[in-house]
Amino acid sequence: MRSTLLLASAMAFFVQAEARVWGYIDTSNHLLLPTVLKQSYDFIVVGGGNTGLAVASRLSEDKHKTVLVIEAGTSQVTNAGVSIPAEAGSTFLSDIDWAFYTAPQKKANNRSVYWPRGKMLGGSSGLNFLAWTRPNEADMTSIVNMAGTGASSWSWKHMLSYFKKSESYTSPTANNQGVKRVDVPSVHGHAKVGVSASYPPYLSSQFVGFFKGLRELRVEVDQDLSDGQGEGVSYSASSMDPITRSRETSDTAYIVPIVAGRTNLVVLTSAQATKLTWASKKSGSNVVASGVNFVATAKNHTTLHVTAKAEVILSAGSIQTPQLLELSGVGDPSILNPLGISTVVNLPGVGANLQDHPGVVVVEKLKPAYQSLDNLSGVPLATAVGEYALGQGLLTQELSVLAYLTGSSFLTKAEQAEALALSKTPNAALPKKQQAQMIANLAAGSPVVEFLSINVYFGESASGATNESYISLASCIQHSFSRGSIHISTADPLTAPTIDPSYLQHPFDMFILSKAAQFMRKVAQKTSLSKFISGEAEPGTGVQSECEWEEYVRESIRTEYHPIGTASMMPRAEKGVVDPRLTVYGTSNVRVADLSILPLHVSTHPQSLAYAIGEKAAAMILADHQDC
Ligand SMILES: Cc1cc2nc3c(=O)[nH]c(=O)nc-3n(C[C@H](O)[C@H](O)[C@H](O)COP(=O)(O)OP(=O)(O)OC[C@H]3O[C@@H](n4cnc5c(N)ncnc54)[C@H](O)[C@@H]3O)c2cc1C
Ligand SMILES: *[C@@H]1O[C@H](CO)[C@@H](O)[C@H](O)[C@H]1NC(C)=O
Ligand SMILES: *[C@@H]1O[C@H](CO)[C@@H](O)[C@H](O)[C@H]1NC(C)=O
Ligand SMILES: *[C@@H]1O[C@H](CO)[C@@H](O)[C@H](O)[C@H]1NC(C)=O
Ligand SMILES: *[C@@H]1O[C@H](CO)[C@@H](O)[C@H](O)[C@H]1NC(C)=O
Repeated sequence: MRSTLLLASAMAFFVQAEARVWGYIDTSNHLLLPTVLKQSYDFIVVGGGNTGLAVASRLSEDKHKTVLVIEAGTSQVTNAGVSIPAEAGSTFLSDIDWAFYTAPQKKANNRSVYWPRGKMLGGSSGLNFLAWTRPNEADMTSIVNMAGTGASSWSWKHMLSYFKKSESYTSPTANNQGVKRVDVPSVHGHAKVGVSASYPPYLSSQFVGFFKGLRELRVEVDQDLSDGQGEGVSYSASSMDPITRSRETSDTAYIVPIVAGRTNLVVLTSAQATKLTWASKKSGSNVVASGVNFVATAKNHTTLHVTAKAEVILSAGSIQTPQLLELSGVGDPSILNPLGISTVVNLPGVGANLQDHPGVVVVEKLKPAYQSLDNLSGVPLATAVGEYALGQGLLTQELSVLAYLTGSSFLTKAEQAEALALSKTPNAALPKKQQAQMIANLAAGSPVVEFLSINVYFGESASGATNESYISLASCIQHSFSRGSIHISTADPLTAPTIDPSYLQHPFDMFILSKAAQFMRKVAQKTSLSKFISGEAEPGTGVQSECEWEEYVRESIRTEYHPIGTASMMPRAEKGVVDPRLTVYGTSNVRVADLSILPLHVSTHPQSLAYAIGEKAAAMILADHQDC
């Protein structure tokens, strides 16, 4: 199967008679690029990432529609740093990472926090840690509530069909180091074209210790992290092929298997979109996008243009979708005017409502008998690679034991009361409706923090000591009460926008992160997990008092890599950017399909939701163009 994948990635197709090209084409391809530019497209998808390639794959199932994807990065199907699960992280700061940094965070000792994002076909699905989980039912209900009239089809019940449509699932086997079967088969999908999800055949023994340790503290077991309950501790599936144990990206899942036969699909790489162009004639009061300008980064940075006959779909992710909207004149005039960009649609919600899953990490040293990824220099690498070739061993495993806990699972009664009281603190940046929803969910006992075991040093230095192995225990808040923004600060499209998540802006976030980190120390020291551990590396015994823990949070708060909300699906009057059919307000034919549309954060690793959004977007777009 791999070998056909490799072949397909190198393919572009050219048929003289129709003078039509299709398939993967890079802007460095002098022969085919002129034809790509001359062809017309019904749909242009900007961003060949997690969501964008799902959209393009489904849209092009309709043979009568032509589809162009514009992606800044390139194909990475031959990159072992992408395909080997345990190599996740090794490609950070390489040329397939946008490697953003936040603005200095006022409440976090002015630190700029590193925000990796995938710059390749597959986008962040090629850079992520493969965890395969879904939001819970209450999170989807909250999204429906925020999105307002016409949004009922975003409920868990309706979205389940898209979660299934995007998934090709393999149940866990019983022989996986004592891991018992923990899936609910009825919620899973077996799509022919969709993301392979399977369980790593190898599970580190300290991960089992983490699982057991939480159980000893009376944490419930979630039978399946995809079942819409999303509470408790469980083994997580990975976005990974069940046989080869290579990572699934949106490219390997959605494009590679179909591209050879899709004469109506062009996937153009090394092409960075710089703005949408607008037709001179409006549709009623709405502006009409006519196409997209992009810079051919593999050529000489020439700016080129392609024409969209029906729609432009923005799938550039939570950071660059708002950037592109602002560069195109869609946004807050008080931000656009000073940069000399004339306002095409006055839409102050663009780039606002940024929410992340911020986290802190407690790092524990493993006793010498236990093996982690730090250990790979100790184990001859050839052994690990040899095992991997058989679909076995340490390299098949990424994140695989996760816990989504309610306040009652890790806070005392008094702390729960304090958390609830703090949640009511007003915050100018947080819409009242969102705050009320979050307080109601908190009171109803929805998960507050995700705890994860990471099989490698994941602390504050570049790496741990070379003679040690580690388990890193992360605590990530799932419903932050802080609200940030992403805005352009220049009209230059090749300069990154200013990312300001406003970490710790709201006191609830600090309280929860400090208590959650203390809980991770407790799990490491007071449960079955302790038998794997020789001592704490970070923050270490110097940190004991509440004040010291809070300082540790300020000094080490970072991202779980899940920004959302910068093109929120909310009513226009409430600073929304898209309606429930994902159309940008004030435009007739621009949609957003990526995680920036989420008005409120969800308690999950979000790649599965990005795929489901892509499926739903494609279904809505095709339904709206049945006769064009
Ligand atoms: C390090 C890391 C670890 C993560 N771990 C997990 C995990 O274990 N499980 C999980 O579920 N989620 C995880 N996530 C989150 C998840 O991968 C992302 O939330 C999700 O992939 C985002 O999908 P998207 O479609 O919104 O954006 P992306 O997948 O980022 O896609 C955006 C695409 O647009 C392209 N692009 C941007 N601007 C332009 C432009 N101007 N012109 C052309 N192309 C452009 C980008 O190159 C990219 O390909 C992780 C993320 C990261 C970064
Ligand atoms: C952060 O920067 C601001 C503005 O430069 C400064 O006033 C403040 O003292 C700094 N805070 C810390 C903790 O360094
Ligand atoms: C860049 O490429 C374009 C398109 O092929 C070509 O027309 C132009 O002359 C080139 N410019 C430079 C400066 O090389
Ligand atoms: C690595 O793993 C082996 C056991 O597989 C162990 O003997 C060794 O001490 C471990 N630690 C390091 C740091 O190499
Ligand atoms: C690693 O080296 C440090 C410093 O020399 C030492 O204190 C520590 O005990 C060593 N750890 C192991 C597991 O040998």
